[in-house]
Amino acid sequence: MLNHRLPTVFGTLAIMAALSAPAGAAEALETKLQICNTCHGENGQPIDATIPIIWGQTEYFIVKQLHDFKSGDRENTVMASFAKRLTQQELRPAAQYFSKKPWPARTSPVAAVPAPDGIAVCQICHQPGFVGGLPAPRLAGQSYEYLVEAMRTFADGERTNNMDMVKIMQELSPAQREAIARYISSL
Ligand code: HEC
Ligand code: HEC
Repeated sequence: MLNHRLPTVFGTLAIMAALSAPAGAAEALETKLQICNTCHGENGQPIDATIPIIWGQTEYFIVKQLHDFKSGDRENTVMASFAKRLTQQELRPAAQYFSKKPWPARTSPVAAVPAPDGIAVCQICHQPGFVGGLPAPRLAGQSYEYLVEAMRTFADGERTNNMDMVKIMQELSPAQREAIARYISSL
C-alpha cells in the first residue's frame, strides 16, 4: 500500500516544487535585498544625505549602476561589495523591486529655490521636473549633498561611467553646480 503511493507522492511533490520555484526565487532575492535597507532606508529614506534614494528610481538606471559597480566602471568600494553579492541574473529583478517602490515623501518641508541658469539642457535627458527617463535617472528630491558630490566626481573625472555627464559637468563652475544641486534637491 505504502509502496504503491510513494511514487505518486514524490511526483506530486516534484510538481509542487517546480511550480513554486519562481515565487521562491523572488522571495529569496527579496530576503537578499533586505541588507540594502541598512543604508538606503527601511522606508526608502536613506540613513544619511550622502546616500542616494533608490526607491522609485528608474529601472534601467539601477540595473546599469549595479552592473557598473560590479565591473568597476563606477568606482565605489562599498557599493562594489554589495553589488557583487548579486548575480548578473538578479540585477534586473533587484532593480524592478526598488523601481516599483514609491519615491519617499519629503520628511521636512524645503523653501522653494529659484531655477538657476543652465538647467534647460539637463532636462533634455533628465526630463522636465527632473523626474528621469530612459536612460537618465530621476534627480528631483535627491539630497543636495549627494547631487553636488555626484556632479563634482563627473567634473573631476573620478566618475567616468557616462562620458556625456563628464563633459557637461566640466563646462560648469563649482558655484554653478552648487546652485543647480540646490535647486534640484528642492524639487
Ligand atoms: C553600507 C551602505 C550601503 C549598502 C548596504 C548599500 N548601499 Fe547602495 N549606495 C551606498 C552609497 C554610499 C552609494 C553612493 C555611491 C557613490 O557615491 O558613488 C550607493 C549607491 C547606490 C546606487 C546608485 C544610485 C544612484 O543614484 O547613483 C544603487 C542603484 C544602489 N546603491 C543600490 C544598492 C543595492 C541594490 C544594495 C543592496 C544589494 C545597496 N545599494 C546596498 C551605500 C550602500
Ligand atoms: C545627454 C543626456 C544628459 C544631459 C544633457 C544631462 N544628463 Fe545627467 N545623466 C545622464 C545619464 C544617462 C546619467 C546616468 C549616468 C550613469 O550611467 O551613471 C546622468 C547622471 C546624472 C547624475 C548622477 C545621478 C545619480 O543618481 O548618480 C547627476 C547628478 C546628473 N546627471 C545631473 C545633471 C545635470 C545637473 C545636468 C545639466 C547641467 C545633466 N545631468 C545633463 C544624462 C544626461
